[in-house]
Amino acid sequence: MKQTRDSWGSRLGIIMAVAGSAIGLGNFLRFPAKAAANGGGAFIIPYIIALLLLGLPLMWIEWAMGRFGGGFGHGTAPGIFHSIWQKNRFIRYFGVIGIFGPFVIFIYYTFIESWTLGYSAFALMGKLTHINDQASMQSFLSGYQGVQQNQFFTNIGWAYLFFLITFALNIAVIYHGIKGGIERLCNFALPLLFACAIMLVIRVLTLGAPYPDHPDWNIANGLGYLWNPDFSALKSAKVWLEASGQILFTLSVGIGVILTYASYLKKGDDVVLSGLTAASTNELAEVIIGGSIVIPAAFIFFGPVDIQTIAKSGTFNLGFVTMPLVLNKLPMAEIFSFAWFLLLFLAGVTSSISLAQPAIAFLQDEFDISRKRAVAFFGIAAFLLCQPAIFFLKNGVVDELDFWGGTFLIVIFALIEVILFAWVFGINNAWEEMHHGADLRIPKVYKFIIKYITPAFLILVLGMWMKQEWWTFITMANISPANKPYVLATRFMLIALFAILSFMVKAAWQRKKQKGALK
Ligand code: ALA
Repeated sequence: MKQTRDSWGSRLGIIMAVAGSAIGLGNFLRFPAKAAANGGGAFIIPYIIALLLLGLPLMWIEWAMGRFGGGFGHGTAPGIFHSIWQKNRFIRYFGVIGIFGPFVIFIYYTFIESWTLGYSAFALMGKLTHINDQASMQSFLSGYQGVQQNQFFTNIGWAYLFFLITFALNIAVIYHGIKGGIERLCNFALPLLFACAIMLVIRVLTLGAPYPDHPDWNIANGLGYLWNPDFSALKSAKVWLEASGQILFTLSVGIGVILTYASYLKKGDDVVLSGLTAASTNELAEVIIGGSIVIPAAFIFFGPVDIQTIAKSGTFNLGFVTMPLVLNKLPMAEIFSFAWFLLLFLAGVTSSISLAQPAIAFLQDEFDISRKRAVAFFGIAAFLLCQPAIFFLKNGVVDELDFWGGTFLIVIFALIEVILFAWVFGINNAWEEMHHGADLRIPKVYKFIIKYITPAFLILVLGMWMKQEWWTFITMANISPANKPYVLATRFMLIALFAILSFMVKAAWQRKKQKGALK
């Protein structure tokens, strides 16, 4: 029996949900790490250019395409692409990426998200406050992750427990559907997230210079470290690649999740102003808030020399080693550490539920099964696929998943979307579709940008990346011999998953054909 499709409860609800999907670990960890490591204030130049030429156009494209496909009862890329190019029998298989990508990100993202829940609990219990040096905080993290046995942890038990709780929470939210689960959670989680964030920003900005013998280790220089531009960085292709990748990842575009969220809109609902509002909320959380916490705080306590190593130590170290050490130096460390990890957890959970939804929508829309059963199928498959990420983290499995799901396929998928919308559907139809029911008109120049600049920019990014890294990646040249079997096994797992999803698309369309229900 055909199920009626879910819908959003209010306009604010979907804006909060899209902003919740966009605001994630990427805003508070990935962005400051990338900005600090790639020319500080100069990074913001390619970043803003990528926002205007890639991020915003893709945000509008996904909202419009999603709403369009939703009108035909499709909530995921195979069906949405089919509605746009009905004559082409293959386009739906390109759409598989829009279910595969978010699924792959989900299986490692949820594990990392669960660390933030674990650390929130440890912060409240005062377990982090007694650790005062870098090496010990690092072993606390490695012990927790099960990467090594030490005085803090002898096995992965705690991490696994928090993973189970986080996973169950995600499943419970999606089980309650779009309005009753996702919208309800985001309406409550986003204000709480901003409250934690503002409290931390105020704390960092009022730190002054805590060491009298180092008066220059102060907030102004801390902000300067992140924002003073190093213009020579602009000549590096890597900086442009990283800025573009960050824009797509942080806005959650090129993944497939916004297509799905927008498919629950009604035909006359605005997409232009809503998309812009969600994107702006994400940028506020990323540039203003994300840029004012970790790096300036670490500068104040570790000084201009050590901050260089810290900035390059990677996103996990910034969040789980440097930040608790910094907060430990403050009065009421437990409370601030708790606020920090709660902030990360809320940012994480509002993103991970959006990563789960495409797979659920696919099962519901294309196989007409109930939400309950779709969530059960998804839950079992995702739970099994999460296991390698948990147990073989140290062998490079998460990095491999992040590369395919969180980096490479995002660019490919974004390119397919823009070509399909601007060229196959046609830019005039696309423009009209975007403005249907719109509360704001997009500046005319975007017609040109969407048709030519966005695809050209994506092709350039892809080409530069291929030239610089493709071969190393394919041949696993930068992976240690011990880890190669794990990385290879991960690749096989991903190929198998992609093949299964493609087969499911084939089966769904055959079924529809037999029932004469193809649209
Ligand atoms: N957009 C999400 C993030 O930034 C995935 O973490």
